[in-house]
Amino acid sequence: MGRNASRRFVAGNTMEDVMTASKAMNDAGMAVTMDVLGENVTNPDEARESVGAYHQLLDEITQRKLNANVSVKLTHVGFDIDRQMCRDLVCGLVRHAADLNNFVRIDMEGSSYTQSTLDLVKQLHSAVQPADAVGVVVQAYLYRSEKDVQDLCAQGIRIRLCKGAYDEPRNIAFPKKRDVDANYIKLAKMLLNSGIYHGIATHDQRVIEEIICFAGKQKIPPSAFEFQMLYGIRRDLQQQLVREGWRVRAYIPFGTEWYPYFMRRLAERPANALFIAKNFFRS
Ligand code: FDA
Repeated sequence: MGRNASRRFVAGNTMEDVMTASKAMNDAGMAVTMDVLGENVTNPDEARESVGAYHQLLDEITQRKLNANVSVKLTHVGFDIDRQMCRDLVCGLVRHAADLNNFVRIDMEGSSYTQSTLDLVKQLHSAVQPADAVGVVVQAYLYRSEKDVQDLCAQGIRIRLCKGAYDEPRNIAFPKKRDVDANYIKLAKMLLNSGIYHGIATHDQRVIEEIICFAGKQKIPPSAFEFQMLYGIRRDLQQQLVREGWRVRAYIPFGTEWYPYFMRRLAERPANALFIAKNFFRS
């Protein structure tokens, strides 16, 4: 049941599936970022296998002339096993992306990884030329994120801003949604004013409308940043933004390790679980 239900958010099991989904999104006027599903691998062979899949994705993207980059979770490429090995594997991937004039986004995971992820991205950013072949994610629910945005922007590092998808304690993260939303808007405005090309990742229409209004007032053109949304979520809004002339990138996951990703999508919106349960009992 879970596998069938997860199809709404996941392109499929294979590389061909994600290529087909990406081509369709490109044809609909959207860029994409591809994610090989998986996290917290426990042995070095799995880490090497994951990074191998990402190398292959970069080559396929180039060969097929897709408007696409890749998104990687550090724990999928061995961060829990051996930090140095993980750093070397990711560095090789970012160099490959740089050679192909492409880009690697390092996703952000739970708060126990925040500092070490940012440290690694800063190292990669200064080690690989051109430096803008790597970027990171900042989560608006964390109190620390304003300072992180300032530091990363000072170093010219591209950020994807999201609200945050993990269950974090109230001593480090805003417990109330309205405070997360307010912080999101505050940080998004900082990003738009930074002169760096960032990603505004949300499906929150009210937030998006406020960002568009701010961009208009500050005369920030649509080419200066992009909106990002998850595959299968608010497709209507994705298309509306494209029609209005905004840049949109869809995050497309694929692979067999769909369970944790799927559960985070359910947790964000209990209506998803209800919808799935109703259809399960109907069939
Ligand atoms: P919010 O949760 O307030 O939802 C606003 C509206 O969006 C809802 O009312 C509903 O209409 C729609 N919506 C949101 N989630 C939905 C869902 N699951 N199903 C159906 N409708 C939904 N997080 C993280 O911790 N690390 C990361 O690296 C990333 N990366 C990332 C990339 C991209 C491109 C996106 C869009 C998001 C992420 N996230 C993430 C996830 C992010 O932190 C957050 O959990 C989700 O985007 C949901 O938050 P919203 O900003 O959409 O707002």
